[in-house]
Amino acid sequence: MGRIINKTRIILLALVLAIFTSACETEVAKVSEIEQIKPVPMKENVKDSDGKIKIGFSMDTLQEERWLRDRELFKKSVEALGAEVEILAANGDDALQISQAETLISQGIDLLVIVPHNAEATAAIVHRAHEAGIKVIAYDRLVKNADIDLYVSFDNEQVGEMQAKAITKLVPKGNYVYIGGAITDNNALLFKKGVFNVLQPLIDKGDIKIVYDQWTIDWNPENALANMEAALKANGNQIDAVIAANDATAGGVIHALTAQGLAGKIPVAGQDAELAAAQRIVEGTQTMTVYKPIQSLTEKVAQLAVNLAKGENIDANQKVNNGKIEVPSVLLAPIAVDRFNIDDTIIADGFHSRVDVYR
Ligand code: BGC
Repeated sequence: MGRIINKTRIILLALVLAIFTSACETEVAKVSEIEQIKPVPMKENVKDSDGKIKIGFSMDTLQEERWLRDRELFKKSVEALGAEVEILAANGDDALQISQAETLISQGIDLLVIVPHNAEATAAIVHRAHEAGIKVIAYDRLVKNADIDLYVSFDNEQVGEMQAKAITKLVPKGNYVYIGGAITDNNALLFKKGVFNVLQPLIDKGDIKIVYDQWTIDWNPENALANMEAALKANGNQIDAVIAANDATAGGVIHALTAQGLAGKIPVAGQDAELAAAQRIVEGTQTMTVYKPIQSLTEKVAQLAVNLAKGENIDANQKVNNGKIEVPSVLLAPIAVDRFNIDDTIIADGFHSRVDVYR
């Protein structure tokens, strides 16, 4: 009997031990699982065998003139710092931009700079880069809802404010059309916010009436042209001013106005200081543009990218909320340009030559 009790005790003890051990193992397994999903620490070995820091630049598009300049000047700015850059452009295709970013990550870049086509979809890229220990900078356009490491752009709300201030000075009362950018681009929302910061009090007073307000799918000038035609038709051409989110869409707007014999009679605002817009300004069919000195942007991003890749502290004194975090940000100042200061700004900077502008 005693032996039976002892045997039972031993079996019970063994059972308790077994349960305890397996509980511990489960704990251990959980801990290691947690460790696996923690963000991978930054790459330690930041330089290639040739000793150079390698930056990946994932661009949305090269459609507008400015992006060609961004591409060229960013390469120069990075190389001036002794680093190198691999550049891919996705032609406005989200899936392609994601796969191109994956290619850059797998090529062993030390840091990724991205101009997102779609502010939300590109969060996946940030996640994948971080898994590989690579930091990500949002260039010109913000990536939403992601742990982006840095955002460098111009003050985009101010861009819209500059447009609306210039146009309301000329047309303090009347029927306004707003031709927005691509709704998938966070900048388009900021430009519009800036415009309405200025217009809203005048709308509330009853001085200004918004008779047409539409986004432009993918920033496509053809879409802007179609929207402007619709605006003219819906209002029997009774339009007093147009604010377009950039020069490419302003081009579409002016095309539609020309067809109605109205080009040069209705003030139009744009943005980017494209050569075609500068020419329209001196010819009188476009009222103003907003000039964003691209070289200041490329130099700033290149410097910060190299600093971040080296794990150095960076000086980004602003914060912009992207829906998930307060993103450390640097926002540069845009410049309003009309026919009165075009020589002292765009031309003086060598952004366009005098000969090209006054062709
Ligand atoms: C940029 C503009 C550009 C537009 C279309 C915006 O995000 O800030 O400069 O014209 O995209 O590419």
